[in-house]
Amino acid sequence: MDSILVTGNGPLSGTIPIAGAKNACLTLMPATLLSDEPLTLTNAPGLSDIRTMTQLLQSLGAEVTSLQDGKVLAMSCHGAINSRAEYDIVRKMRASNLVLGPLLAREGHAEVSLPGGCAIGARPMDIHTSGLQQMGAEIELRDGYLHAKADGGHLKGAVIDFPFASVGATENIMMAATLAKGTTVINNAAREPEIVDLATCLRKMGAQIDGDGTSRIEIQGVDRLHGATHPVVSDRIELGTYMLAPAICGGEVECLGGRIELVGAFCEKLDAAGISIEETPTGLKVARKNGRIRAVDVTTAPFPGFPTDLQAQFMALMCTAEGTSVLEEKIFENRFMHAPELERMGADIDVHGGHATVRGVERLKGAPVMATDLRASVSLILAGLAAEGETVVNRVYHLDRGYERVEEKLRNVGAKIERVKSQ
Ligand code: UD1
Repeated sequence: MDSILVTGNGPLSGTIPIAGAKNACLTLMPATLLSDEPLTLTNAPGLSDIRTMTQLLQSLGAEVTSLQDGKVLAMSCHGAINSRAEYDIVRKMRASNLVLGPLLAREGHAEVSLPGGCAIGARPMDIHTSGLQQMGAEIELRDGYLHAKADGGHLKGAVIDFPFASVGATENIMMAATLAKGTTVINNAAREPEIVDLATCLRKMGAQIDGDGTSRIEIQGVDRLHGATHPVVSDRIELGTYMLAPAICGGEVECLGGRIELVGAFCEKLDAAGISIEETPTGLKVARKNGRIRAVDVTTAPFPGFPTDLQAQFMALMCTAEGTSVLEEKIFENRFMHAPELERMGADIDVHGGHATVRGVERLKGAPVMATDLRASVSLILAGLAAEGETVVNRVYHLDRGYERVEEKLRNVGAKIERVKSQ
Protein backbone atom coordinates (compact mmCIF):
# COMPACT_ATOMS: atom_id res chain seq x y z
CA MET A 1 0.00 0.00 0.00
CA ASP A 2 1.28 3.50 -0.84
CA SER A 3 2.49 5.87 1.86
CA ILE A 4 3.06 9.63 1.91
CA LEU A 5 6.33 11.13 3.00
CA VAL A 6 6.06 14.68 4.40
CA THR A 7 8.94 16.83 5.57
CA GLY A 8 8.31 19.98 7.61
CA ASN A 9 9.47 22.78 5.37
CA GLY A 10 8.35 26.18 6.65
CA PRO A 11 5.86 28.69 5.22
CA LEU A 12 3.68 27.99 2.18
CA SER A 13 2.69 30.39 -0.55
CA GLY A 14 0.63 30.27 -3.74
CA THR A 15 -2.79 29.04 -4.82
CA ILE A 16 -4.68 25.75 -4.41
CA PRO A 17 -7.68 25.03 -6.65
CA ILE A 18 -10.64 23.53 -4.79
CA ALA A 19 -12.38 20.62 -6.53
CA GLY A 20 -16.07 19.78 -6.77
CA ALA A 21 -17.46 18.27 -3.57
CA LYS A 22 -17.10 14.53 -3.13
CA ASN A 23 -20.21 14.35 -0.94
CA ALA A 24 -22.31 16.42 -3.35
CA CYS A 25 -21.18 14.39 -6.36
CA LEU A 26 -21.95 11.11 -4.57
CA THR A 27 -25.55 12.17 -4.06
CA LEU A 28 -25.98 13.83 -7.48
CA MET A 29 -24.86 10.70 -9.33
CA PRO A 30 -27.71 8.42 -8.10
CA ALA A 31 -30.17 11.13 -9.21
CA THR A 32 -29.56 9.81 -12.73
CA LEU A 33 -31.69 6.79 -11.75
CA LEU A 34 -34.71 9.11 -11.50
CA SER A 35 -34.86 9.85 -15.24
CA ASP A 36 -34.44 8.03 -18.55
CA GLU A 37 -32.85 11.17 -20.02
CA PRO A 38 -29.13 12.04 -19.64
CA LEU A 39 -27.78 13.77 -16.53
CA THR A 40 -24.38 15.41 -16.96
CA LEU A 41 -22.32 16.60 -14.01
CA THR A 42 -19.47 19.05 -14.51
CA ASN A 43 -16.79 20.01 -11.94
CA ALA A 44 -16.72 16.41 -10.69
CA PRO A 45 -13.74 15.50 -8.48
CA GLY A 46 -11.28 12.78 -9.53
CA LEU A 47 -11.62 10.43 -6.57
CA SER A 48 -11.83 6.72 -5.94
CA ASP A 49 -15.21 7.14 -4.20
CA ILE A 50 -16.58 8.58 -7.45
CA ARG A 51 -15.23 5.56 -9.33
CA THR A 52 -16.96 3.28 -6.78
CA MET A 53 -20.29 5.08 -7.35
CA THR A 54 -19.72 4.82 -11.12
CA GLN A 55 -19.24 1.08 -10.75
CA LEU A 56 -22.37 0.77 -8.62
CA LEU A 57 -24.54 2.74 -11.07
CA GLN A 58 -23.18 0.70 -13.99
CA SER A 59 -24.05 -2.50 -12.12
CA LEU A 60 -27.63 -1.17 -11.87
CA GLY A 61 -27.81 -0.58 -15.63
CA ALA A 62 -26.81 3.09 -15.93
CA GLU A 63 -24.35 4.28 -18.54
CA VAL A 64 -21.66 6.43 -16.93
CA THR A 65 -18.91 7.96 -19.03
CA SER A 66 -16.09 9.89 -17.50
CA LEU A 67 -14.86 12.73 -19.76
CA GLN A 68 -12.23 15.48 -19.55
CA ASP A 69 -10.05 13.62 -17.06
CA GLY A 70 -13.02 12.73 -14.89
CA LYS A 71 -14.21 16.36 -14.52
CA VAL A 72 -17.36 15.59 -16.52
CA LEU A 73 -19.61 12.63 -15.80
CA ALA A 74 -22.11 11.89 -18.55
CA MET A 75 -24.78 9.54 -17.24
CA SER A 76 -27.85 7.99 -18.76
CA CYS A 77 -30.32 5.50 -17.46
CA HIS A 78 -32.68 4.83 -20.36
CA GLY A 79 -32.66 1.03 -20.42
CA ALA A 80 -33.71 -1.75 -18.08
CA ILE A 81 -32.71 -1.28 -14.46
CA ASN A 82 -31.37 -3.90 -12.10
CA SER A 83 -32.61 -2.85 -8.68
CA ARG A 84 -30.16 -4.88 -6.58
CA ALA A 85 -27.12 -3.06 -5.17
CA GLU A 86 -24.63 -5.81 -4.34
CA TYR A 87 -22.66 -6.09 -1.12
CA ASP A 88 -19.33 -6.29 -2.96
CA ILE A 89 -19.66 -2.68 -4.11
CA VAL A 90 -21.78 -1.23 -1.29
CA ARG A 91 -19.38 -2.40 1.43
CA LYS A 92 -16.63 -0.19 -0.05
CA MET A 93 -18.51 3.02 0.60
CA ARG A 94 -21.43 3.93 2.81
CA ALA A 95 -22.72 6.55 0.36
CA SER A 96 -23.81 3.61 -1.85
CA ASN A 97 -26.98 3.65 0.26
CA LEU A 98 -28.02 6.76 -1.71
CA VAL A 99 -29.33 4.54 -4.53
CA LEU A 100 -32.12 3.20 -2.28
CA GLY A 101 -34.50 6.17 -2.59
CA PRO A 102 -34.06 6.65 -6.37
CA LEU A 103 -34.39 2.91 -7.14
CA LEU A 104 -37.53 2.63 -5.07
CA ALA A 105 -39.00 5.73 -6.71
CA ARG A 106 -38.24 4.55 -10.24
CA GLU A 107 -38.81 0.79 -10.02
CA GLY A 108 -41.17 0.48 -7.05
CA HIS A 109 -38.75 -1.98 -5.45
CA ALA A 110 -35.07 -2.23 -4.51
CA GLU A 111 -32.64 -4.51 -2.77
CA VAL A 112 -29.70 -2.68 -1.30
CA SER A 113 -27.00 -4.29 0.80
CA LEU A 114 -26.52 -2.71 4.22
CA PRO A 115 -23.20 -0.85 4.08
CA GLY A 116 -21.91 -2.38 7.30
CA GLY A 117 -19.86 -0.77 10.03
CA CYS A 118 -17.30 1.88 9.46
CA ALA A 119 -14.26 2.97 11.40
CA ILE A 120 -15.80 6.19 12.73
CA GLY A 121 -18.95 4.63 14.20
CA ALA A 122 -21.98 2.40 13.74
CA ARG A 123 -23.79 4.53 11.12
CA PRO A 124 -27.23 2.86 11.03
CA MET A 125 -29.90 3.50 8.34
CA ASP A 126 -33.02 3.64 10.50
CA ILE A 127 -33.81 7.27 9.64
CA HIS A 128 -33.68 6.47 5.89
CA THR A 129 -35.85 3.34 6.21
CA SER A 130 -38.38 4.85 8.60
CA GLY A 131 -38.87 7.80 6.22
CA LEU A 132 -39.41 5.50 3.25
CA GLN A 133 -41.81 3.34 5.29
CA GLN A 134 -43.86 6.45 6.06
CA MET A 135 -44.02 6.95 2.28
CA GLY A 136 -45.63 3.52 1.92
CA ALA A 137 -42.60 1.29 1.44
CA GLU A 138 -42.40 -2.11 3.05
CA ILE A 139 -38.83 -2.72 4.11
CA GLU A 140 -37.39 -5.95 5.41
CA LEU A 141 -33.84 -6.88 6.31
CA ARG A 142 -32.92 -10.31 4.88
CA ASP A 143 -29.47 -11.82 4.19
CA GLY A 144 -27.78 -8.48 4.91
CA TYR A 145 -29.90 -6.68 2.30
CA LEU A 146 -32.70 -4.17 2.74
CA HIS A 147 -35.60 -5.46 0.60
CA ALA A 148 -37.85 -2.49 -0.11
CA LYS A 149 -41.15 -2.48 -1.98
CA ALA A 150 -43.47 0.45 -2.57
CA ASP A 151 -47.10 -0.36 -1.81
CA GLY A 152 -48.91 -0.50 -5.18
CA GLY A 153 -45.62 0.18 -6.99
CA HIS A 154 -45.56 3.88 -6.06
CA LEU A 155 -44.34 5.81 -3.06
CA LYS A 156 -46.77 8.29 -1.52
CA GLY A 157 -46.10 11.72 -0.08
CA ALA A 158 -45.87 11.93 3.73
CA VAL A 159 -44.93 14.30 6.51
CA ILE A 160 -41.70 12.94 7.97
CA ASP A 161 -40.14 14.19 11.20
CA PHE A 162 -36.50 13.22 11.41
CA PRO A 163 -35.20 12.47 14.94
CA PHE A 164 -31.81 13.78 13.75
CA ALA A 165 -30.89 15.94 10.72
CA SER A 166 -29.21 13.10 8.82
CA VAL A 167 -27.56 14.23 5.60
CA GLY A 168 -27.93 10.91 3.76
CA ALA A 169 -31.52 10.35 4.90
CA THR A 170 -32.51 13.86 3.75
CA GLU A 171 -30.97 13.14 0.33
CA ASN A 172 -32.55 9.69 -0.01
CA ILE A 173 -36.04 10.88 0.98
CA MET A 174 -35.76 14.03 -1.17
CA MET A 175 -34.88 11.97 -4.26
CA ALA A 176 -37.57 9.37 -3.53
CA ALA A 177 -40.18 12.09 -3.03
CA THR A 178 -39.59 13.74 -6.41
CA LEU A 179 -41.51 10.92 -8.15
CA ALA A 180 -43.91 10.05 -5.29
CA LYS A 181 -47.65 10.65 -5.47
CA GLY A 182 -48.46 13.83 -3.54
CA THR A 183 -46.47 16.08 -1.26
CA THR A 184 -43.68 15.09 1.10
CA VAL A 185 -42.48 17.29 3.92
CA ILE A 186 -39.20 16.60 5.73
CA ASN A 187 -39.06 18.27 9.13
CA ASN A 188 -35.66 18.58 10.84
CA ALA A 189 -34.00 18.10 7.44
CA ALA A 190 -30.24 18.50 7.07
CA ARG A 191 -29.19 21.94 5.74
CA GLU A 192 -25.77 21.13 4.28
CA PRO A 193 -24.72 22.87 1.01
CA GLU A 194 -24.68 19.42 -0.61
CA ILE A 195 -28.45 19.16 0.03
CA VAL A 196 -29.01 22.54 -1.63
CA ASP A 197 -26.85 21.42 -4.56
CA LEU A 198 -28.89 18.21 -4.96
CA ALA A 199 -32.17 20.15 -4.78
CA THR A 200 -30.88 22.63 -7.39
CA CYS A 201 -29.99 19.80 -9.76
CA LEU A 202 -33.31 18.00 -9.17
CA ARG A 203 -35.19 21.24 -9.92
CA LYS A 204 -33.28 21.48 -13.23
CA MET A 205 -34.57 17.95 -13.91
CA GLY A 206 -38.14 19.17 -13.32
CA ALA A 207 -38.61 18.35 -9.63
CA GLN A 208 -40.67 20.63 -7.40
CA ILE A 209 -38.73 21.27 -4.22
CA ASP A 210 -38.90 24.16 -1.74
CA GLY A 211 -37.09 24.93 1.49
CA ASP A 212 -33.74 23.24 0.83
CA GLY A 213 -31.13 24.91 3.03
CA THR A 214 -33.74 25.20 5.82
CA SER A 215 -34.87 22.47 8.21
CA ARG A 216 -38.25 22.07 6.43
CA ILE A 217 -38.11 20.77 2.88
CA GLU A 218 -41.28 20.31 0.84
CA ILE A 219 -41.34 18.15 -2.28
CA GLN A 220 -44.29 17.95 -4.61
CA GLY A 221 -44.12 14.66 -6.55
CA VAL A 222 -44.17 14.85 -10.37
CA ASP A 223 -44.80 12.11 -13.00
CA ARG A 224 -41.37 12.21 -14.56
CA LEU A 225 -38.02 13.98 -14.45
CA HIS A 226 -35.99 14.95 -17.51
CA GLY A 227 -32.30 15.39 -18.30
CA ALA A 228 -30.06 18.22 -17.07
CA THR A 229 -26.50 19.48 -16.82
CA HIS A 230 -25.25 20.58 -13.42
CA PRO A 231 -21.92 21.79 -11.96
CA VAL A 232 -21.00 20.17 -8.63
CA VAL A 233 -20.64 22.70 -5.77
CA SER A 234 -17.12 23.31 -4.37
CA ASP A 235 -15.86 20.90 -1.74
CA ARG A 236 -16.10 22.74 1.60
CA ILE A 237 -14.16 20.00 3.38
CA GLU A 238 -11.28 20.09 0.91
CA LEU A 239 -11.45 23.89 1.22
CA GLY A 240 -11.25 23.82 5.02
CA THR A 241 -8.43 21.29 4.88
CA TYR A 242 -6.28 23.43 2.59
CA MET A 243 -7.11 26.60 4.57
CA LEU A 244 -5.45 24.82 7.49
CA ALA A 245 -2.20 24.27 5.56
CA PRO A 246 -0.89 27.90 5.82
CA ALA A 247 -2.53 28.15 9.26
CA ILE A 248 -0.38 25.29 10.49
CA CYS A 249 2.86 25.98 8.55
CA GLY A 250 2.76 29.75 8.20
CA GLY A 251 2.67 31.68 4.93
CA GLU A 252 -0.24 32.74 2.71
CA VAL A 253 -2.32 30.56 0.41
CA GLU A 254 -5.34 31.40 -1.72
CA CYS A 255 -7.90 28.60 -2.04
CA LEU A 256 -9.40 29.15 -5.49
CA GLY A 257 -13.15 28.72 -5.67
CA GLY A 258 -13.54 28.92 -1.87
CA ARG A 259 -16.51 30.84 -0.45
CA ILE A 260 -17.10 31.90 3.18
CA GLU A 261 -20.71 30.71 3.24
CA LEU A 262 -19.51 27.13 2.73
CA VAL A 263 -17.28 27.25 5.82
CA GLY A 264 -18.71 30.02 8.07
CA ALA A 265 -18.46 28.30 11.49
CA PHE A 266 -15.03 26.92 10.63
CA CYS A 267 -13.77 30.42 9.62
CA GLU A 268 -14.95 31.84 12.96
CA LYS A 269 -12.76 29.30 14.78
CA LEU A 270 -9.77 29.96 12.50
CA ASP A 271 -10.17 33.68 13.13
CA ALA A 272 -10.31 33.08 16.91
CA ALA A 273 -7.11 31.03 16.59
CA GLY A 274 -5.37 34.05 15.01
CA ILE A 275 -5.57 33.20 11.31
CA SER A 276 -6.47 35.89 8.79
CA ILE A 277 -9.02 35.09 6.08
CA GLU A 278 -9.71 37.44 3.20
CA GLU A 279 -12.38 37.04 0.52
CA THR A 280 -10.96 37.72 -2.94
CA PRO A 281 -12.75 37.76 -6.31
CA THR A 282 -11.35 34.27 -6.97
CA GLY A 283 -11.48 32.56 -3.59
CA LEU A 284 -10.33 32.79 0.02
CA LYS A 285 -6.85 33.97 0.99
CA VAL A 286 -5.58 32.55 4.27
CA ALA A 287 -2.51 33.78 6.16
CA ARG A 288 -1.03 33.10 9.53
CA LYS A 289 -0.51 36.25 11.54
CA ASN A 290 2.61 36.66 13.66
CA GLY A 291 2.99 34.62 16.80
CA ARG A 292 1.64 31.30 17.99
CA ILE A 293 -1.79 29.93 17.24
CA ARG A 294 -4.30 30.48 20.06
CA ALA A 295 -6.14 27.47 21.54
CA VAL A 296 -9.84 27.40 20.58
CA ASP A 297 -12.61 25.00 21.69
CA VAL A 298 -14.72 23.33 19.02
CA THR A 299 -17.96 21.34 19.08
CA THR A 300 -19.01 19.59 15.89
CA ALA A 301 -22.62 19.98 14.75
CA PRO A 302 -24.77 19.62 11.63
CA PHE A 303 -24.47 22.51 9.13
CA PRO A 304 -24.24 25.47 9.70
CA GLY A 305 -22.22 24.28 12.72
CA PHE A 306 -18.58 23.18 12.71
CA PRO A 307 -18.32 20.13 10.41
CA THR A 308 -17.31 16.78 11.87
CA ASP A 309 -15.37 16.22 8.64
CA LEU A 310 -12.95 19.03 9.65
CA GLN A 311 -12.50 18.03 13.29
CA ALA A 312 -9.39 15.86 12.76
CA GLN A 313 -7.67 18.52 10.66
CA PHE A 314 -8.49 21.25 13.21
CA MET A 315 -7.05 19.04 15.95
CA ALA A 316 -3.75 18.97 14.03
CA LEU A 317 -3.72 22.78 14.22
CA MET A 318 -4.56 22.81 17.93
CA CYS A 319 -1.61 20.47 18.67
CA THR A 320 0.81 23.40 18.41
CA ALA A 321 -1.50 26.12 19.77
CA GLU A 322 -0.69 28.17 22.82
CA GLY A 323 -2.90 26.83 25.61
CA THR A 324 -5.44 24.02 25.95
CA SER A 325 -8.37 23.37 23.65
CA VAL A 326 -11.29 20.97 24.01
CA LEU A 327 -12.71 19.38 20.88
CA GLU A 328 -16.13 17.81 21.29
CA GLU A 329 -17.38 15.32 18.67
CA LYS A 330 -21.18 15.21 18.55
CA ILE A 331 -21.88 13.47 15.23
CA PHE A 332 -19.91 10.22 15.33
CA GLU A 333 -19.08 8.25 18.47
CA ASN A 334 -15.62 7.05 17.48
CA ARG A 335 -13.95 9.83 15.60
CA PHE A 336 -10.73 10.47 17.51
CA MET A 337 -8.59 7.71 16.05
CA HIS A 338 -6.15 10.31 14.74
CA ALA A 339 -5.39 11.39 18.35
CA PRO A 340 -3.03 8.48 19.23
CA GLU A 341 -1.28 8.94 15.88
CA LEU A 342 -0.80 12.68 16.55
CA GLU A 343 0.59 11.71 19.97
CA ARG A 344 3.25 9.66 18.19
CA MET A 345 4.35 13.00 16.75
CA GLY A 346 4.65 14.55 20.21
CA ALA A 347 1.12 15.97 20.61
CA ASP A 348 -0.37 16.04 24.10
CA ILE A 349 -3.99 14.81 23.82
CA ASP A 350 -6.41 13.12 26.26
CA VAL A 351 -9.54 11.54 24.84
CA HIS A 352 -12.51 10.89 27.15
CA GLY A 353 -15.64 9.71 25.39
CA GLY A 354 -16.71 12.40 22.97
CA HIS A 355 -14.13 14.97 24.20
CA ALA A 356 -10.49 15.44 23.31
CA THR A 357 -8.37 17.79 25.41
CA VAL A 358 -5.41 19.07 23.44
CA ARG A 359 -2.58 20.81 25.29
CA GLY A 360 -0.54 22.69 22.72
CA VAL A 361 3.16 21.88 22.40
CA GLU A 362 5.84 24.12 20.91
CA ARG A 363 6.67 21.79 18.01
CA LEU A 364 5.58 18.39 16.63
CA LYS A 365 8.21 15.87 15.56
CA GLY A 366 8.06 13.70 12.45
CA ALA A 367 7.19 10.00 12.98
CA PRO A 368 5.76 7.02 11.12
CA VAL A 369 1.97 7.12 11.58
CA MET A 370 -1.05 5.18 10.37
CA ALA A 371 -4.06 6.69 8.58
CA THR A 372 -7.26 5.27 10.08
CA ASP A 373 -9.91 7.00 7.99
CA LEU A 374 -10.28 9.61 5.28
CA ARG A 375 -10.15 12.83 7.31
CA ALA A 376 -7.68 11.34 9.81
CA SER A 377 -5.25 10.70 6.93
CA VAL A 378 -5.16 14.31 5.88
CA SER A 379 -4.88 15.57 9.46
CA LEU A 380 -1.65 13.57 9.75
CA ILE A 381 -0.35 15.12 6.54
CA LEU A 382 -1.11 18.61 7.91
CA ALA A 383 0.63 17.74 11.17
CA GLY A 384 3.60 16.40 9.18
CA LEU A 385 3.87 19.69 7.28
CA ALA A 386 4.32 21.50 10.59
CA ALA A 387 6.56 18.91 12.25
CA GLU A 388 10.32 18.84 12.54
CA GLY A 389 11.79 16.12 10.34
CA GLU A 390 10.08 13.39 8.32
CA THR A 391 6.62 11.94 8.76
CA VAL A 392 5.54 8.82 6.90
CA VAL A 393 1.77 8.44 6.68
CA ASN A 394 0.98 4.78 6.03
CA ARG A 395 -2.21 3.20 4.67
CA VAL A 396 -3.17 6.20 2.58
CA TYR A 397 -5.79 4.51 0.41
CA HIS A 398 -8.40 6.40 2.44
CA LEU A 399 -6.87 9.64 1.24
CA ASP A 400 -7.51 8.87 -2.42
CA ARG A 401 -11.20 8.40 -1.59
CA GLY A 402 -11.56 12.08 -0.77
CA TYR A 403 -8.61 14.21 -1.92
CA GLU A 404 -7.57 14.47 -5.56
CA ARG A 405 -3.88 15.08 -6.34
CA VAL A 406 -3.13 16.03 -2.74
CA GLU A 407 0.66 15.83 -3.11
CA GLU A 408 0.62 17.97 -6.26
CA LYS A 409 -1.68 20.61 -4.74
CA LEU A 410 0.49 20.92 -1.63
CA ARG A 411 3.79 20.77 -3.55
CA ASN A 412 2.61 23.68 -5.70
CA VAL A 413 2.50 25.91 -2.61
CA GLY A 414 5.96 24.84 -1.47
CA ALA A 415 5.32 21.78 0.71
CA LYS A 416 7.79 18.92 0.71
CA ILE A 417 5.58 15.92 0.15
CA GLU A 418 5.78 12.81 -1.99
CA ARG A 419 4.02 9.52 -2.48
CA VAL A 420 6.05 6.39 -1.90
CA LYS A 421 4.61 3.63 -4.09
CA SER A 422 4.31 0.21 -2.49
CA GLN A 423 6.54 -2.46 -4.04
C1 UD1 B 1 -22.58 12.53 5.48
C2 UD1 B 1 -21.24 12.71 4.81
C3 UD1 B 1 -20.10 12.53 5.82
C4 UD1 B 1 -20.32 13.44 7.02
C5 UD1 B 1 -21.72 13.25 7.61
C6 UD1 B 1 -22.04 14.22 8.73
C7 UD1 B 1 -21.67 11.96 2.55
C8 UD1 B 1 -21.42 10.97 1.48
N1 UD1 B 1 -21.12 11.74 3.75
O1 UD1 B 1 -22.63 11.18 5.93
O2 UD1 B 1 -18.87 12.84 5.18
O3 UD1 B 1 -19.37 13.12 8.03
O4 UD1 B 1 -22.70 13.44 6.56
O5 UD1 B 1 -21.90 15.53 8.29
O6 UD1 B 1 -22.33 12.96 2.33
N2 UD1 B 1 -27.62 8.22 11.75
C9 UD1 B 1 -28.51 7.36 12.35
N3 UD1 B 1 -29.46 6.74 11.56
C10 UD1 B 1 -29.54 6.97 10.20
C11 UD1 B 1 -28.63 7.87 9.60
C12 UD1 B 1 -27.68 8.49 10.42
O7 UD1 B 1 -28.46 7.12 13.56
O8 UD1 B 1 -30.42 6.39 9.55
C13 UD1 B 1 -26.57 8.87 12.58
C14 UD1 B 1 -25.17 8.40 12.17
O9 UD1 B 1 -24.83 7.19 12.80
C15 UD1 B 1 -24.30 9.55 12.60
C16 UD1 B 1 -25.21 10.77 12.40
O10 UD1 B 1 -26.55 10.26 12.32
O11 UD1 B 1 -23.99 9.44 13.96
C17 UD1 B 1 -24.87 11.57 11.14
O12 UD1 B 1 -25.09 10.79 10.02
P1 UD1 B 1 -25.53 11.39 8.61
O13 UD1 B 1 -25.82 12.84 8.72
O14 UD1 B 1 -26.59 10.49 8.07
O15 UD1 B 1 -24.21 11.20 7.78
P2 UD1 B 1 -24.02 10.54 6.35
O16 UD1 B 1 -25.09 10.99 5.44
O17 UD1 B 1 -23.77 9.09 6.53
